[in-house]
Amino acid sequence: MPFDLRKKNSKLWSHKRISYLNSEISQSMKQVRFHDAPVSGGGQSQNGKFSYGYASSQGKRSSMEDFYETRIDGVDGKVVGLFGVFDGHGGARVAEYVKQNLFSNLIKHPKFISDTRSAIADAYSHTDSELLKSENNEIKDAGSTASTAILVGDRLLVANVGDSRAVICRGGTAIPVSRDHKPNQTDERRRIEDAGGFVMWAGTWRVGGVLAVSRAFGDRLLKQYVVADPEIQEEKVDNTLEFLVLASDGLWDVVSNEEAVSMSKAILDPEEAAKKLLQEADQRGSADNITVVVVRFLAKQEESNKTTSA
Ligand SMILES: *[C@@H]1O[C@H](CO)[C@@H](O)[C@H](O)[C@H]1NC(C)=O
Ligand SMILES: *[C@@H]1O[C@H](CO)[C@@H](O)[C@H](O)[C@H]1NC(C)=O
Ligand SMILES: *[C@@H]1O[C@H](CO)[C@@H](O)[C@H](O)[C@H]1NC(C)=O
Repeated sequence: MPFDLRKKNSKLWSHKRISYLNSEISQSMKQVRFHDAPVSGGGQSQNGKFSYGYASSQGKRSSMEDFYETRIDGVDGKVVGLFGVFDGHGGARVAEYVKQNLFSNLIKHPKFISDTRSAIADAYSHTDSELLKSENNEIKDAGSTASTAILVGDRLLVANVGDSRAVICRGGTAIPVSRDHKPNQTDERRRIEDAGGFVMWAGTWRVGGVLAVSRAFGDRLLKQYVVADPEIQEEKVDNTLEFLVLASDGLWDVVSNEEAVSMSKAILDPEEAAKKLLQEADQRGSADNITVVVVRFLAKQEESNKTTSA
């Protein structure tokens, strides 16, 4: 078995093998590999409560499997912030679908404001089943993670499936607010085995020997085991909450939670902070697609403005 081809960070190994062959072909054709500048951007909520920025590695569009969404909307007269990172595997299709549909489904949910938690869980499962329906059996092994942060009033709800992590900085300390869904976690492994599946070592731990995350959108062939049920954590937005980082594993494979927080803490512009993290991951040789979203909460800043003007 060509174990040397099984790179640790390939989420779907059959697909990675194809990419590997493609890169062999392009190298033999002596194609120039461009290292494009990242795309980045950002904005601020009209009520001045938070600002956000993002940065994402750019290359040939066809090879990019990370997507992100940053959106400020109004629902029932409330300002809501919706932020997400979607890391695809087996192609970009599923990640793109989730980007285009998940937040629209969520804000249309009748209980979005009154019961945000169950609205999030419903939106995840509804989006996944609509995706599987719309695909018509086309792509059986494409899937995507989702790491999302929903801001409603003074509530921050973080939901995720897969291993695109969310980390907050509260009172200067890095705190993970999502758990990576890996097949070898005791409870995940048990859930998969109880459903009749198995987890096997193939370069890393994989569901059915294939997929390196235990929850995802899509992945029709493994759907019994690889569910899109999000885990949801809630944080209070107060003056100790400084900022939030959402990123694909292209960042987290090479930068720890603590490093990410300490490197971006002093950078008040969230777009600059996201760019800095991306650059660092790139310099540390991350082989994967890298996408970083940073949301900065401005309550603390507002308070210090009050004190200085008083
Ligand atoms: C995205 O990841 C794929 C697969 O690892 C890689 O082939 C491609 O070059 C990456 N693209 C970018 C823009 O980073
Ligand atoms: C899962 O496997 C990885 C290696 O791929 C290891 O670093 C990690 O500690 C394992 N986790 C558990 C809960 O066994
Ligand atoms: C606080 O003051 C700074 C500088 O005076 C200003 O740029 C910033 O927008 C203010 N922040 C808020 C939340 O009012």
